[in-house]
Amino acid sequence: MTKILAIETSCDETAASVVEDGLHIRSDVVASQIDIHRRYGGIFPEIASRQHILALPTVVQDALAQAHADWNDLDAVAVTYGPGLAGSLLVGVNAAKGLALSLDLPLIGINHLEGHLYSNWLETDGAVQAPRFPSVCLIVSGGHTELVLIRGHLDYEVLGRTLDDAAGEAFDKVARLMGLGYPGGPAIQEAAEGGSPAAFDLPRARLRGSLDFSFSGLKTAVLRIVQRYTDKVQSPADTAVIQLPLRSLPVANLAASFQMAVVDVLVEKTCQAAERFDAAEILIAGGVSANAALRHEMAARADRPVRVPPLFLCTDNAAMIGAVAHHRFLAGERADLDLDVIPNLRLEDL
Ligand code: KG4
Ligand code: ZN
Repeated sequence: MTKILAIETSCDETAASVVEDGLHIRSDVVASQIDIHRRYGGIFPEIASRQHILALPTVVQDALAQAHADWNDLDAVAVTYGPGLAGSLLVGVNAAKGLALSLDLPLIGINHLEGHLYSNWLETDGAVQAPRFPSVCLIVSGGHTELVLIRGHLDYEVLGRTLDDAAGEAFDKVARLMGLGYPGGPAIQEAAEGGSPAAFDLPRARLRGSLDFSFSGLKTAVLRIVQRYTDKVQSPADTAVIQLPLRSLPVANLAASFQMAVVDVLVEKTCQAAERFDAAEILIAGGVSANAALRHEMAARADRPVRVPPLFLCTDNAAMIGAVAHHRFLAGERADLDLDVIPNLRLEDL
């Protein structure tokens, strides 16, 4: 039996978890900074790292307490070292190094994206379902949109990725354009309720033959529509929250149409990849995998089993980091105390 303390601070969640055998979540503590960043309309990197420093000691202690674990019960300390915000990653990595050194425990560095893949295989509601390989996983988060072929544990190939915005980023930017607030994904999902996905004919970048994605054309199309209703729209790159005179904007219809345009392409490409590589199952992971329309459409359109993480494991958490760490621990991987953060770390770098 292995018991691993995992730490995750790559973005705006300060998280720690104790995971047993890569499957059983003994504790899962997440301190979200969303309320702090909301007033800036997006993540403010310096504030994120400072907030991690403030929150991490308590988060780690809570993770141990909830797991009824003692420092001596741990077999290793695992930490996300990339991809993510440099200052945020540094807080987790330095804390993990300090713990590993003082407790004389092995240190294991984990790729955040690999963590999202593993969020699908943790025990939920008392049940463990063994992975089936090969599988195809769609990782859709605020910073990434990637289609990954998983041949076995720790064995991946990236089949396609976004050429511009990540899916979550597109949700966040379009929500800001529509004056819906931050984070945009949940805001758009809520605004879309009762709206018609067919109300606006929005573009889908199919990039025929390729498993890559592109969402910038869709974002611009939404911008043009919003501009028809107001002349005060600012660039989606601006971070300030805007108050638009949007009374006449058909918010529900536009949100539903945008959501379906994103979901359509995500589902279509994932199914193509699954067919091309004869996947035994399809997985979804990352913050956008919490999206109800995506979960529904993938299950409805896929011609093979679809596995989605429970909602609490879709967005950033440390349990998924502990799940990967178990396999890397068994494989004998150990990080040195000079482990550095790699903000643009890719799955291919593993
Ligand atoms: O994985 P995550 O928590 O952090 C990153 O690693 O980026 O993903 C955050 C992203 C944000 O862009 C957020 O808007 C999106 O996930 N998101 C959603 C939903 N919940 C979170 N997007 C669409 N629908 C949702 N329900
Ligand atoms: Zn993430």
